[in-house]
Amino acid sequence: MKLKGKTAFITGAANGIGEATARRLAADGARVVMTDIEIERLAQVAAEIAATGTEVRHYPLDVTRRDQVQAVFDQLQTDWGAPDVVAHIAGVGKALHFLKLTDADWSRTIDINLRGSFLVGQIGAQAMVNAGIHGSIVFMASTNGLVAEEELADYNASKFGVVGLMKTMAIDLASSHIRVNSVNPGLIRTRLTQGSWDETETGQWYTRERIPMRRLGLPAEVAACVSFLASDDASYVTGHTLVVDGGQLTL
Ligand SMILES: NC(=O)c1ccc[n+]([C@@H]2O[C@H](COP(=O)([O-])OP(=O)(O)OC[C@H]3O[C@@H](n4cnc5c(N)ncnc54)[C@H](O)[C@@H]3O)[C@@H](O)[C@H]2O)c1
Repeated sequence: MKLKGKTAFITGAANGIGEATARRLAADGARVVMTDIEIERLAQVAAEIAATGTEVRHYPLDVTRRDQVQAVFDQLQTDWGAPDVVAHIAGVGKALHFLKLTDADWSRTIDINLRGSFLVGQIGAQAMVNAGIHGSIVFMASTNGLVAEEELADYNASKFGVVGLMKTMAIDLASSHIRVNSVNPGLIRTRLTQGSWDETETGQWYTRERIPMRRLGLPAEVAACVSFLASDDASYVTGHTLVVDGGQLTL
């Protein structure tokens, strides 16, 4: 129960890695604040976590909207006070050749993945500073924030941006006792990757040849790393990119 007594705020909590993070932080003792744009799914997962005896709140939130992000943190301040942990997981991605990428594709990915990180990071950090909380902020970057992959120019750019944002926040917020880190997953089995890896020849080749552990990771394996960075076990860790990729980047 290494997060006992802490309040954890999570974006993208209705599915995949965000859902697994909410479940893991709750299991580690935190009370959890779950947010997402998929409201029905969010309520369902929140109810399942509440049934385990954890205190849970859930709010609809589009991370690209400053007014919504501010309103949710204000509401949380009234309900429970400022969070000790902000885990910003919400994100999107789809493969498209560079020459086929439209302005709309580019703007959507950068808006959700990068600008969303700026908004949640800034408003979340301000709430912690106002309350004098020695907090932890964890961003969900990617191995694509450290090395590029084909047909993912907008996604790669957004995740390289998240790493740069994270490192700068780590410096600027250190004197406020707020640690800022990212988890950088490789291929994780969620709906984002569904179908393409086990069911296609290219996917099977990729898993066999490009991932030393020869399998995709599980959302729970990423959530465990978020929990570590969120906890006091990581009390001297800030500005770090924690890679969770079955050894992919070693090749
Ligand atoms: N699955 C992977 O292999 C993988 C690898 C590296 C990084 N990631 C990152 O992990 C994060 C979660 O991905 P996932 O695989 O769990 O995908 P997912 O699609 O299962 O979950 C993403 C969640 O983000 C939410 N979301 C999307 N746009 C939003 C918005 N504007 N505001 C609020 N919520 C929004 C969705 O509703 C969804 O619940 C993303 O940031 C993704 O880039 C995933």
